[in-house]
Amino acid sequence: MEIDYSEFNNPRLAKIYDSFNPLTDDETFWVKKIESLHVTNISDLGCGTGLLTCKLASFGYNITGIDPASSMLEVAKNKLYADKVKWRKGSSEQLEKNSNDLVVMTSHVAQFFVKNYEWNKSLKDIYNSLKPGAYLLFDSKNPLLEPWKKWNKEDSCRILESSEGKVESWIELISIKGNKVQFKIHYLFVDTQEKMVANMELVYRSKNQLIKDLEQNGFELQKTYGNWDGSNLDENSPEMIFLAKKKY
Ligand SMILES: C[S@@+](CC[C@H](N)C(=O)[O-])C[C@H]1O[C@@H](n2cnc3c(N)ncnc32)[C@H](O)[C@@H]1O
Repeated sequence: MEIDYSEFNNPRLAKIYDSFNPLTDDETFWVKKIESLHVTNISDLGCGTGLLTCKLASFGYNITGIDPASSMLEVAKNKLYADKVKWRKGSSEQLEKNSNDLVVMTSHVAQFFVKNYEWNKSLKDIYNSLKPGAYLLFDSKNPLLEPWKKWNKEDSCRILESSEGKVESWIELISIKGNKVQFKIHYLFVDTQEKMVANMELVYRSKNQLIKDLEQNGFELQKTYGNWDGSNLDENSPEMIFLAKKKY
């Protein structure tokens, strides 16, 4: 299967992204956590449609939103407070050196750095973009819960209203190879009966692997959380949320 990530790269699918992926309890968690860090300059790496980016801009943070998908950035730029955000197309190479108090990656952006060299490069770029003692905050799904077990039409089908009318969407698991999972997201635009498919791949790194990667790239782990209520991370937690600090 040729991976196209058209969930983000297709303009029509980017337009319906927020309807299928709204921020809820996670937004409250990110906002409170970021507030507690007393930071000023933030970069939101993999900012997507700017759901959190624009929210943070509304609080007066000096924020940069970075994403490789032009279609997602187009949606982001039309949001309230988008004019307060510096938007950059690309990935971690767009992070400005020695300038950030915090880099965030939300809604499992870290899992899109599928190859280890991409992930390690992005951690190095993040490290170089942080001021001494500054923070990295991100989430990744817990592989121990094997969330892909519910990736079939029966368990995952949703029909939602969107800016493109009523849309049905469901996830189909294609393959699991090591910690990499390939899947398709199917879309049916109900009014026109038009169908679209996004071919996707995510990596599910373990908690220990992510901690090791952080340490090897110059970060000191400050705290982990297992869900949006701030609970501790254990083997039954759906989320793995990491707060790390630039060490040197
Ligand atoms: C699930 S969305 C999350 C968007 C946003 N952070 C949110 O919370 O709504 C994942 C985003 O990661 C972006 N992405 C994929 N590969 C990336 C990479 N190598 N560097 C930066 N962002 C990437 C995608 O374009 C997409 O917008």
